[in-house]
Amino acid sequence: MSLSSEEHPRIVVDVVIDDHAEEKTLEQLREALLEDPPRLPSRHFYDDRGSDLFEQICELPEYYQTRTEHKLLEDIAPRLIELTGAERLVELGSGAATKTRVILDAMRAAGCLRSFVPMDVSEGIVRRVAQELVEEYPRLEVHAVIGSFLEDLSSLPQGHKELVAFLGGTIGNLKPEPHAREFLSNLARAMGSGEYLLLGADLIKNRRLLHAAYNDSQGITAEFNLNILEVTNRRFDANFELGQWLHRAFFNEDEHRIEMHLEARTDLEFTVAAVGVTRRVAAGDTVMTEISTKYDQQKLEALLACSGFELVEFFTDPDQLFSLSLARTV
Ligand code: SAH
Ligand code: AVI
Repeated sequence: MSLSSEEHPRIVVDVVIDDHAEEKTLEQLREALLEDPPRLPSRHFYDDRGSDLFEQICELPEYYQTRTEHKLLEDIAPRLIELTGAERLVELGSGAATKTRVILDAMRAAGCLRSFVPMDVSEGIVRRVAQELVEEYPRLEVHAVIGSFLEDLSSLPQGHKELVAFLGGTIGNLKPEPHAREFLSNLARAMGSGEYLLLGADLIKNRRLLHAAYNDSQGITAEFNLNILEVTNRRFDANFELGQWLHRAFFNEDEHRIEMHLEARTDLEFTVAAVGVTRRVAAGDTVMTEISTKYDQQKLEALLACSGFELVEFFTDPDQLFSLSLARTV
């Protein structure tokens, strides 16, 4: 469904989450809840409050990712535009699109900025960003898509001279095999050959830094983690009591990933009525809410290669905390 926005003549908003998508969401939620340990798909973090908490996480002193990626983007943006000649920026999982402005500024400085296509499941933040950007960039056309980058890539508006950005390390939230590979393969097919992808990925590093980034001293990450229970209660008629669960985040050495869980404080039972699942858990058992896989250049190059991309240039900061890979579809 395409809705020309009444809010602004340069904004179009497509809402592509339909009844069919809702069925799929329910099926995926049910399957995840029946795993051992039970899991909640991490896209359900992001209602308006979840998106707001994530923005707060980005400002935390312990959460090095956002400021490192921001600085790296400032350093490389003119080169990205020179290499890609992009006129349109497509951003998957765009959120608050704060770092995006660095790329848009470089496109504007090069005189090639035409349009921006943010895609995200979190409707409120997409609409807010669309409004902000048409005000900040006087001739920019914004064609927003409220949908999932896992299921709805075919709903992206067709275009050429595009740069597709997937920033923030969100690729790490997909299991490398099969989910990240399947997602990138679908993306490569949707993009067509010779098109550019800018992929932000967090790197393997000192364990203390990693641990602190997901166990911040202000407890914002804990609030973000617990918010998924509120979203599940509201959207899927569940009966989680937030006071019965504790935030847990740790680095899994074998899988090279941070895992976020919610740990039951006592023996308890929960029901998610919309998908007909009831589970009994003992004190200390967990529900898994997120993985955040950490990469190195070799693993990223291999992942891109087996998904239909070739690496054009790999960028990292001097401390090698975070990476941006510019890749092209083969
Ligand atoms: N790119 C931003 C935000 C990262 S947070 C940054 O770098 O800061 C992850 C974003 O992905 C959130 O805005 C969330 O709503 C969105 N998201 C999560 N799963 C998604 C999915 N399946 N499809 C589209 N957006 C998704
Ligand atoms: C969105 N994503 C890359 C974040 C991450 O670091 O994996 C989500 C997050 N979870 C806890 N803190 C931030």
